[in-house]
Amino acid sequence: MMENHVKLPQMKSPEPNARNKGIKRHPCLRPLSRDHLLALIGAQKLLKASRGEISLDEGLSAFAKIWQDEITIHLADEEAILPQFIKEESDRERLFDDHKKLRAFAQMLGEKITDEKSAMVLAGEAGAFLDAHIRWEEREFFPRIEKTASPEEIERLLALTDEVESKRSRNRSCDSRIRSKRKNSI
Ligand SMILES: [Fe+2]
Ligand SMILES: [Fe+2]
Repeated sequence: MMENHVKLPQMKSPEPNARNKGIKRHPCLRPLSRDHLLALIGAQKLLKASRGEISLDEGLSAFAKIWQDEITIHLADEEAILPQFIKEESDRERLFDDHKKLRAFAQMLGEKITDEKSAMVLAGEAGAFLDAHIRWEEREFFPRIEKTASPEEIERLLALTDEVESKRSRNRSCDSRIRSKRKNSI
């Protein structure tokens, strides 16, 4: 199956000494991984605002847009598609618990700011949590799904994530997924 893997753009690690390696993702999960790149930008905006590198207003507005346009849809798609492929109960719990916490963070960040210092701390916590959630999915959760799925499950996952990709506005004309190539060659 290795020939089906592609290298995603590098995700910067928060640990200064950690080696940055691109993550190889099977086509059946690639659309959800593509979503992660935008979610990481949202996390970075929050972290930069928390460190005062950009204004709180700029960071919160940028995050709110990505949250509304991309992340809420992504979370709902993951919750609708992935549970049937999960083999470990702890993965199911973490997926739903993390999403619940992310929604709570987004709601708190959208409330009226009365204390800028507290809002910066909250932005830092939310950004770090979102970043950690994506890294867990990319480094542990998604690889476990890829490793434990049967060939039939992989086919089913491909069909479901094909549908996800078709609903996304990005790069429709340059989708290089194996399944698309296979369809075109028939
Ligand atoms: Fe998630
Ligand atoms: Fe995700």
